[in-house]
Amino acid sequence: MSIYHQDDTATLLLGDAIEQMCTLPDGSVNCIVTSPPYYGLRNYGTAGQYGLEESPAAYVETMRQVFTEARRVLADDGTLWLNLGDSYVCSPKGSESATSGLDGRSNHLTTPAGSGGKNGGGLAAKQLIGIPWRVAFALQDDGWILRNEIIWSKPNAMPEPVRDRQSKTHEHLFMFAKSPRNWYEKDPKCRGDVWSLATRPYPAAHFAVFPIDLPLRCITAGCKPGGTVLDPFSGSGTTGAAARQLGRGYVGIDLNPAYHDLAKDRFAQGVLDFGEAS
Ligand SMILES: C[S@@+](CC[C@H](N)C(=O)[O-])C[C@H]1O[C@@H](n2cnc3c(N)ncnc32)[C@H](O)[C@@H]1O
Repeated sequence: MSIYHQDDTATLLLGDAIEQMCTLPDGSVNCIVTSPPYYGLRNYGTAGQYGLEESPAAYVETMRQVFTEARRVLADDGTLWLNLGDSYVCSPKGSESATSGLDGRSNHLTTPAGSGGKNGGGLAAKQLIGIPWRVAFALQDDGWILRNEIIWSKPNAMPEPVRDRQSKTHEHLFMFAKSPRNWYEKDPKCRGDVWSLATRPYPAAHFAVFPIDLPLRCITAGCKPGGTVLDPFSGSGTTGAAARQLGRGYVGIDLNPAYHDLAKDRFAQGVLDFGEAS
């Protein structure tokens, strides 16, 4: 276990998500809320990063391995909230490359190594790959119980410069349970499975973080009071900030110490959000 920071409610572990989770005891967290690197979206500049696999199948296999270890660490009545964006196969000329905005949060695109464009693993160019559902089916095959497909609708999504399809304005948030009897705090407002949440830019991180409202909702519904929340792709610590606000413990893992520093500053300053959406 490589502890980068620890205080009375939060622990930040530095290193690879699978390797660090391997050091956590069975059933030691009550809820997992996370947004892994999306397929082919960006280069975080860190050796060992996920998301640059050479095909969708290879990416799905990476995610399957991550969530196999996460499942061991999760309590039997715990839940996993998995935020994933989709990807388009690049055309050879790259006509889709500036447009896919895989997570809808950025148009900064990275090409998987050696693929000459976003590799669809045999799919025709310009095709929507269906990454979130491919990962969801793999997790189902591994024993996860898929309980919800929540659509995160972004009212302020930037229009994509495309002329032959609709612009993408949503991402997926899957809720999985480890066993048929998961702990759950029913939403008194019955908000249903389409959540309209504006994205919030966070220039300090050079990547878009999810709005804190998203982990706030997941943790309120899926983590018992006093429990512990894990984010194996902690980034700037948005899940950790939400966990602190709700009085839950937090374990965050990331490869990049600079992102943990952002999270530490955020925790110390009580910065839970980054102001109004633009
Ligand atoms: C989409 S960002 C997460 C953003 C986060 N939700 C936030 O609010 O800031 C994905 C994160 O995964 C990290 N990452 C990439 N590959 C990793 C790996 N193999 N193990 C652990 N972290 C990894 C990146 O450094 C990045 O911070």
